[in-house]
Amino acid sequence: MTQLASERFLHESIAGLTQTPKQLPCKYFYDQRGSQLFDQICETDDYYLTRTETAIMQQHAREMGECLGEGVMLVEFGSGSSIKTRYLLDQLIRPVAYVPVDISREHLHTSAEQISADYPTIEVLPTCADFTKPFPLPNPKQRPSHDAVYFPGSTIGNFQPDQAKQLLGSIAHMCGEQGGLLIGIDLRKDPEILERAYNDDQGVTAEFNLNLLHRMRKELGATIDVSSFEHHAFYNAEAGRIEIYLRSRVDQTIQLDGQTVQVEAGELIHTEYSHKYTIDGFAETAAEVGWTLRRSWTDENDYFAVLHLVVL
Ligand code: TRP
Repeated sequence: MTQLASERFLHESIAGLTQTPKQLPCKYFYDQRGSQLFDQICETDDYYLTRTETAIMQQHAREMGECLGEGVMLVEFGSGSSIKTRYLLDQLIRPVAYVPVDISREHLHTSAEQISADYPTIEVLPTCADFTKPFPLPNPKQRPSHDAVYFPGSTIGNFQPDQAKQLLGSIAHMCGEQGGLLIGIDLRKDPEILERAYNDDQGVTAEFNLNLLHRMRKELGATIDVSSFEHHAFYNAEAGRIEIYLRSRVDQTIQLDGQTVQVEAGELIHTEYSHKYTIDGFAETAAEVGWTLRRSWTDENDYFAVLHLVVL
């Protein structure tokens, strides 16, 4: 990370840990190690989301390509190394450019290079940015007919409802008139299935969550006994979300930039929410910030949905 980015990481960590209840900013999950662990989560049996979304993409990419229309500049938020994007790129009609946007620079460039090599006719313009804040879109050589954002992975669900709505609004603004949004959302379902997805058998999700503390040690020089924290995740049905925490096994202190933070045994540090939706509920929120739902695709169990929305 650049010095500025580390300073931000430090300030956001201190701010979160001195708040009641304590929290840590989830966007720092994704350093190189975090991105690798996340890819591993996606391969576990318990984490059905990626598998299911990928199947939806595989089955319906042609229709999605038609819906997105000719000459699009496709901007992907939180681009992974994912094959989901490839199904889409395979079916786009004379796309002008593909713009992967990611906060993790290493991950971004490795996957952009691979895409570039495999899609020689598409201009690939990797953009390292925090998409939760406004950032300028690159200028492709050819003029696009319109811009569309591809936002897979139900990552939108990791934002608080008001922030999610704000982000949807700024995507509408960024794409402008005729703009499109193809977004993956995880649907509400049996809590047992949901909870298993965030407490996988192999403990990869736990490791992913704890990686945040490892990063604070390595990059911020924090004094933390990582082994005295554990992963804790459950479904809050009333709020319609999975809640993810780091739980302290013991009374302890964390030292960060000269500050001492007390943590009690059993105390929870919030790291992430993962909101679960109904298609109608999501479309309603999106409509409040300028989006009209055009189409949606789901799997046979209705576990996951991909929605196409447009700015009219
Ligand atoms: N967008 C993913 C989700 O909500 C991110 C995720 C999966 C995640 N597992 C996690 C985030 C565990 C934090 C901890 O499903």
